[in-house]
Amino acid sequence: MRILVTGGAGFIGSNFVRYMLKMRPDVEVANFDALTYAGNLENLNGLENEPRYCFVKGSVASDEDVEKALAGKAFNAIVNFAAETHVDRSLTDVRPFIRTNVVGAQVLLDACRKHGVKRFLQVSTDEVYGSLGPTGEFTESSPIQPNNPYAATKASADFLARAAHKSHGLDVAITRCSNNFGPYQFPEKLIPLMIANALEDKPLPVYGDGLHTRDWLYAWDHCSAIDLVLRLAAPGSVYNIGGHKDVPNIEVVKLLLKLVGKPESLIRFVQDRPGHDRRYAMNCDRIRRDLGWLPAHSFEDALRATVKWYLDNPAWRARARSGEYQRYYEKMYGRRPPAKNG
Ligand code: NAD
Ligand code: DAU
Repeated sequence: MRILVTGGAGFIGSNFVRYMLKMRPDVEVANFDALTYAGNLENLNGLENEPRYCFVKGSVASDEDVEKALAGKAFNAIVNFAAETHVDRSLTDVRPFIRTNVVGAQVLLDACRKHGVKRFLQVSTDEVYGSLGPTGEFTESSPIQPNNPYAATKASADFLARAAHKSHGLDVAITRCSNNFGPYQFPEKLIPLMIANALEDKPLPVYGDGLHTRDWLYAWDHCSAIDLVLRLAAPGSVYNIGGHKDVPNIEVVKLLLKLVGKPESLIRFVQDRPGHDRRYAMNCDRIRRDLGWLPAHSFEDALRATVKWYLDNPAWRARARSGEYQRYYEKMYGRRPPAKNG
């Protein structure tokens, strides 16, 4: 099987490239990535001499780049991870999100039809469902109600993928996953940001009252689910993926502080994110029933392994947090006032 993985230099994409090369000896992987601030070829260190792997630089939003990557290659599938992924950035400027997440998805769908790529797997998110109250879970039939610009672009891509299946008979599958964590996650996201700040004795900025809740899944377990969906799911199917581990942010932050041996006095409650979804929780009965998927790692063990990875990779951390990141951090957190209700 020959697959094109888009966004394979990012966090989950690079884990997925590693997962497929390790677990599926019959699979060849081409990694197609624009190398934005979030894409880092260091995430793929060690694969340089792997004959079943190659890297192609290009943007999913460019017909020309995608055409060059696909022409004459006879890919069996595209797995689309490429995206602008950070909610806070989408609140400042949504245009790059529309280009990559929406236009890019359509460029890939058109290219699949043109080049006879059999399967298109759209890697989507629980955020397309919006927010939950204190109880309940999202199922695959929950209404699509995105609340932030990032989520709206991901929902748009889901609709375009669905339409390509319904109108043109393209073999599309969509996965909607909850919050991932693990090695290679860019330190703008909650868990790596808190680990990196704590290690440098910097304040840990918790939005609002810290009781917003996310359902956490180790990225490697997300990869095993995508692999199953890629190979076994029926055309047009949608699968929720999650860790069954919904934890309020403040508890995650306190757990991380304990793991790195730093005091809770580093915590700062800061002004909330606008439109901040209160709670996500995923019902994953469908993927367990149809494909036999379950996460293999407990939240606590995976969090410990993740902290160890960031401790063991100070050079990766330092490079990720240099340059553009410093400007971003100053803009996002520099003048953020304390939370009213924190
Ligand atoms: P990331 O931000 O770490 O990586 C995104 C990658 O996409 C980077 O390598 C970047 O260079 C690449 N990219 C961006 N624009 C591109 C373009 N125009 N053309 C080609 N490549 C481009 O993202 P992530 O957290 O690994 O997320 C990967 C996918 O999984 C995204 O589609 C995201 O919506 C989805 N997802 C993420 C999570 C999560 O918790 N991180 C959960 C559910 C779903
Ligand atoms: O749910 C899946 C989604 O998870 C993915 O689709 C997104 O690509 C991914 O970025 C992630 O979105 P979130 O907004 O949930 O992740 P983030 O790590 O930005 O924030 C997690 C929670 O922590 C959220 O409630 C906001 C809060 N937070 C985040 C940051 C960066 C803070 O309290 N302080 C922070 O500094």
